[in-house]
Amino acid sequence: MVLIDGKEIAATIKTEIADEVAKIIAAGMKIPHLAAVLVGHDGGSETYVAAKVKACELVGFESTLIRFEDKVSEQELLDCINSLNQNPAIDGFIVQLPLPKHISEEKVIESIDPKKDVDGFHPVNVGRVVAGMPAFVSATPFGIMELLRRYKIETKGKSCAVIGRSNIVGRPMSILLSQKGVDCTVTLCHSRTKNLKEISLNSDIIVAALGMPEFLTGDMVKEGAVVIDVGTTRVVSDQTKSGFKLKGDVKFDEVAPKCSFITPVPGGVGPMTIASLLYNTLLSNQHKIYK
Ligand code: GUN
Repeated sequence: MVLIDGKEIAATIKTEIADEVAKIIAAGMKIPHLAAVLVGHDGGSETYVAAKVKACELVGFESTLIRFEDKVSEQELLDCINSLNQNPAIDGFIVQLPLPKHISEEKVIESIDPKKDVDGFHPVNVGRVVAGMPAFVSATPFGIMELLRRYKIETKGKSCAVIGRSNIVGRPMSILLSQKGVDCTVTLCHSRTKNLKEISLNSDIIVAALGMPEFLTGDMVKEGAVVIDVGTTRVVSDQTKSGFKLKGDVKFDEVAPKCSFITPVPGGVGPMTIASLLYNTLLSNQHKIYK
């Protein structure tokens, strides 16, 4: 069993990006600049956004953090997005989700200029991914594809179960895995799937992205399977400084011994998400997606 080291691959990607930034600086070109919009004080969102800003520093990007209180009006937020859309200094930006209930996430995402949508959430980018066109790909699925590539995991003709159909992970994951050149046969499973165990037992690759801690158990996985755990449920813990620990969607102790490859939580998919976001920002800075 090979433990997929997302932390190490993400560090390699960050070094590659930092090398690109050095070339950009040497050529006197514009340094990539990522902005993040954070509404409210949700613990998870605070942690993720802080990690994104820190990662920018690490690779030599400029970053801007824009904060709003929970009670910010939808219009105020849309005005901010409009000004980021217009600001030539900003190569890409993200609006951290979830947003307070009185603000429509759909409206907010649609108001982001697709050319600056480095999260890859805008329907234009989602549609371009489906059509096999150059696009900003949602960071988590993009990161998982990169893990499969860098670990040289065979995908051609493999059966793959994606568990969970979120717009951010499961659905785009199913599209990427079925693309020409990747060539998996994908089953997208969800809460209404009747024979999930039968499907997962017959799958060469399983991507667990449903957000239910330890959902995937040993009896649901065949010998030699590749298991990618996207779960990041925060549970209270007295063993960590923060008072929380992350729990994956896979019952690791049962599943790992059966696998050819598996991602741990933490240290698997999570670190790749930030590396992918930085990579998308670099692509935007270099006009690689939208010419
Ligand atoms: N909330 C959880 N994950 C993400 C992400 O990748 N991007 C944004 N903007 N919000 C999130």
